[in-house]
Amino acid sequence: MSEKQDKAEKKVFIKTYGCQMNVYDTTRMADALGGQGYRETSNMEEADLVLLNTCHIREKASEKVYSELGRIRQLKERRQKDGKNTLIGVAGCVAQAEGAEIQRRAPIVDLVVGPQSYHKLTGLVARAEGKNGESELIETEFPTEDKFNHLPAPTKRQIKARGASAFLTIQEGCDKFCAFCVVPYTRGAEVSRPLNQIVEEARLLAESGVREVTLLGQNVNAWHGVNTKEKEIGLGHLLFELAKIDGLDRLRYTTSHPNDMDDTLIAAHRDLECLMPYLHLPVQSGSDKILKTMNRRHTRDDYFRIIDVMREARPDIALSSDFIVGFPGESDKDFEDTMDLVRRVTYASAYSFKYSPRPGTPAADSDNQVDETIKNERLQELQKLLTFQQKSFNKNCLNREMSLLLERKGRLEGQLVGRSPWLQPVQVQAPKNLLGDIVKVSISDIGSNSLFGTLINEKAA
Ligand code: SAH
Ligand code: SF4
Ligand code: F3S
Repeated sequence: MSEKQDKAEKKVFIKTYGCQMNVYDTTRMADALGGQGYRETSNMEEADLVLLNTCHIREKASEKVYSELGRIRQLKERRQKDGKNTLIGVAGCVAQAEGAEIQRRAPIVDLVVGPQSYHKLTGLVARAEGKNGESELIETEFPTEDKFNHLPAPTKRQIKARGASAFLTIQEGCDKFCAFCVVPYTRGAEVSRPLNQIVEEARLLAESGVREVTLLGQNVNAWHGVNTKEKEIGLGHLLFELAKIDGLDRLRYTTSHPNDMDDTLIAAHRDLECLMPYLHLPVQSGSDKILKTMNRRHTRDDYFRIIDVMREARPDIALSSDFIVGFPGESDKDFEDTMDLVRRVTYASAYSFKYSPRPGTPAADSDNQVDETIKNERLQELQKLLTFQQKSFNKNCLNREMSLLLERKGRLEGQLVGRSPWLQPVQVQAPKNLLGDIVKVSISDIGSNSLFGTLINEKAA
């Protein structure tokens, strides 16, 4: 692109909240807007279009949007004084859940677009550009067409700019309806992208220098499709297919549900060297009673069995999970069951949250809400145990050799940061030209948030 063209470009600033699916969507929206003359900027002050890609999962996440919109209003006013217009859009799960309500609470918002309507974003922006904000532009229907069929494919240049590790959404929505969760309402029904669409996108990523792909879906292991012989296949088969692509040296997937860990997927963990030995398998609670009221549809023993099978298939597998404390009706004994489950499984990392009642979900109406102080105490106790387990896992890595995908520059001169197979960030002194390569390191020190490694081999794969 010539410098002249570059100067004429409009700029878009996108702020992303929530899960990796939003991170992926942000890239797709940025790419689509790129085709409309918008270049991404990391400086909100210079943006002609500010887009918030929002999350509705807990009350805190959701409310952040409105405080951010307050700040953006000031920015808009500042820019107006310089004769510049700023368009403001809200995308993501809050957009879907609250729709027109957003424009009522924050009239400065020019457009609202739900997660299944991103192929309509460029049209909305074009209309907003011509409208000066006098009318509402909202797309929150669950459209019948597949957004991915209508969004432009990213260019190799766009992919390269994002580095060697990429996300790829293979499935949208969720049909599980856990009693606490908004996702089935904000993302709609569970839909799997077809095999050839996924393979094509993964090939494009690999051809553009991507070495690691993380497949995404809220129930990623419920992905299903048909192969070239019209045979029904699941995530395990898909992984075997993707493993054949030249240059894709690392595969991951997230988030999986315990009920969908089938034999082929377990075989993939056993047989595929490129499938990283890490499994994020949320359990939420260790109490059968709570699991039942959460509508998770499995018991703690089912979960233990899956963990055993996984560890047998891939002995070096690291486990991660999500937990909710203070779900309605959770007694001391139920919470103790969760602590017991954590002690028995032992996790390499985990996320834990206080239950947050969400509008429209069954659990929000329960009369058995848990007191806030109890929620706080339980969260602290659980997090203490999980942090201890994470630290022990990291300590065990001392003096071990491992492969590292070097993803970005570190804070110190000459330092690069990469991820281990177990998703740990590792800092290493290494020349810049190794960015995007997989190297071999020996772990020489353990920090509080990352590990430190020494380069032993510049090419591990
Ligand atoms: N699809 C994934 C989880 C998606 S949401 C699964 O089934 O596990 C990510 C995490 O947010 C959940 O695992 C859960 O731990 C947490 N979460 C979801 N709804 C919540 C709520 N209402 N209150 C607190 N935490 C919640
Ligand atoms: Fe939410 Fe449950 Fe679906 Fe996960 S499986 S997205 S927790 S409803
Ligand atoms: Fe949040 Fe929506 Fe993801 S609610 S966690 S951004 S699917």
